[in-house]
Amino acid sequence: MNHNIKQKAEILRKEQIAPEIYSMTFGVELAVPAEPGQFVMVYPPDGARLLGRPLCVADASDQTLRIVFRAAGGGTSRIASCDPGDMLYLGGAFGKGYPYDSKTTGGRETVLLCGGLGAPSLLFLAKRLSEAGYGAHCTAFLGYRDSSLMHFLADDFISCGIKVVISTDDGSEGVRGNVLDAVKETGVAPGLIYACGPLPMLSAVKKYSCEKKIPAYISLEEHMACGIGVCLGCVVRTEERDPHSNVHNARICTEGPVFEASEVRI
Ligand SMILES: Cc1cc2nc3c(=O)[nH]c(=O)nc-3n(C[C@H](O)[C@H](O)[C@H](O)COP(=O)(O)OP(=O)(O)OC[C@H]3O[C@@H](n4cnc5c(N)ncnc54)[C@H](O)[C@@H]3O)c2cc1C
Ligand code: FES
Repeated sequence: MNHNIKQKAEILRKEQIAPEIYSMTFGVELAVPAEPGQFVMVYPPDGARLLGRPLCVADASDQTLRIVFRAAGGGTSRIASCDPGDMLYLGGAFGKGYPYDSKTTGGRETVLLCGGLGAPSLLFLAKRLSEAGYGAHCTAFLGYRDSSLMHFLADDFISCGIKVVISTDDGSEGVRGNVLDAVKETGVAPGLIYACGPLPMLSAVKKYSCEKKIPAYISLEEHMACGIGVCLGCVVRTEERDPHSNVHNARICTEGPVFEASEVRI
């Protein structure tokens, strides 16, 4: 997929995998150089909504691209209402993904902390880590509000050959509490953390990783407009000053969405 041009892509498969949550696989004409942690802009088929909706790449191959998303509002609900055979415009893949080279991962006990809809981008990472031979050192902690979400994507993580631990806020399935509670409960001692989920969860992951001096990479999925670095609608405060603009800001859509936890003020 060309990084700057929108391409029309056919919906090959659509499945509702939990209440309000959809998996959609597109056929893409050109090879997709997407990496885990990157996102695509998906344009609802409705001229009234000119802006795309940023959605993480949950899987990609030469000819297909998968997204998993919640029908949260007007844009994503309109996308969810489309069916196999329909064509949608996609842009991307955009942004900086998770580093997973041997220097970053080498032999470390790796945990993937997935809060709710943080799971799709980490699923793609799980696949790549497994293909690189690190699966045996990886555990995915999947956190859900409650059992009504039917531990969506848990089987996909297991299919990648990595261990899975489920937690729910109300204890209706798996460990009671959040993903960090589950890490503590299982006694896993992480040497490397990847995390994606709601901001309060990522703040807690940053605090935990800084206290324990564990390298952590977090994906920030806050609101976005243009998705290509122009509108400044997605800035996050950073510890370091940007040498060009001389401010403590980074654009999530271009410098992120993945950051080292210690780099950002959240
Ligand atoms: C880099 C990135 C990757 C993302 N990946 C995924 C993904 O893989 N799966 C997925 O389900 N969602 C993902 N999101 C969130 C998704 O983009 C929003 O839910 C979507 O844009 C909402 O559009 P809408 O028109 O349906 O809703 P709107 O009508 O615009 O908003 C509906 C509700 O959703 C809330 N909302 C809007 N944008 C966000 C956001 N970015 N984060 C949290 N809440 C939001 C609004 O505050 C409102 O309450 C991602 C966001 C970013 C920035
Ligand atoms: S969304 Fe426009 S600069 Fe990031």
